[in-house]
Amino acid sequence: MARTHYIAGNWKMNTSKAEAVALAKDLVEQLKGKTNKYMIGVPFVYLDAVAQVVKGSNIILAAQDCAATANGAHTGEVSTEMLKDIGVQCVILGHSERRHEIGESDELINKKVRRALNEGLEVDLCIGELLAEREAGEAEQVCAFQLSADLAGVTEEQMKRVTIAYEPVWAIGTGKTATPEDAEAIHKFIRGYIAKLYNQKVADEIIIQYGGSMKASNAPELLAQPDIDGGLIGGASLKAETFVPICVL
Ligand code: PGA
Repeated sequence: MARTHYIAGNWKMNTSKAEAVALAKDLVEQLKGKTNKYMIGVPFVYLDAVAQVVKGSNIILAAQDCAATANGAHTGEVSTEMLKDIGVQCVILGHSERRHEIGESDELINKKVRRALNEGLEVDLCIGELLAEREAGEAEQVCAFQLSADLAGVTEEQMKRVTIAYEPVWAIGTGKTATPEDAEAIHKFIRGYIAKLYNQKVADEIIIQYGGSMKASNAPELLAQPDIDGGLIGGASLKAETFVPICVL
């Protein structure tokens, strides 16, 4: 089944305000009229400025996290209400850097996923195994656990607003990419597991991105795989000249 390619840039904790605005302007210009699905995950403090730039374009604006609760006494948190107020449409959740550097649990990620979906936002849910887990032959088991825990309570209707990003942790920012065959094997497993959790229709329609050192040179082979529908791109998304070539594949 042919699915629209969904190419997302995860800027992580990078750029100045001026760089963020300039990069967004370049992307709006260069992706105008292009027909894949596009998203950029922008640092919280620059979301408002970038929202003005991408408004009315074909680029979805995403935050890199959100609070699990409504507005209230939660120091330092950023709510879905606040994000929607400034034009954010999507939230990246469960990124391995939040799971492993900050210690976010699947229980917390699930609360955030449900909060974002209940508030009408799209979710790009990141899952993936550590190197030790892959070497122990547990990659599928880890992904299955994360999917069932993180999507608990998410309805079939809400799944239309969920994208899965499979990001083997050992491939993120390391220059090591999973081979297209290894990545395809896990993507196929993930799609099969979604069919088990929901049904075949949800599994056929869900977009599963690959993430982990994706760049213009390796993207064509990865995106040619039947179950790899897009990419969540970190390092190569920080410059239009390295990101746009992947977007237009
Ligand atoms: P990378 O990051 O492309 O720099 O490996 C991907 C990600 O963590 O989303």
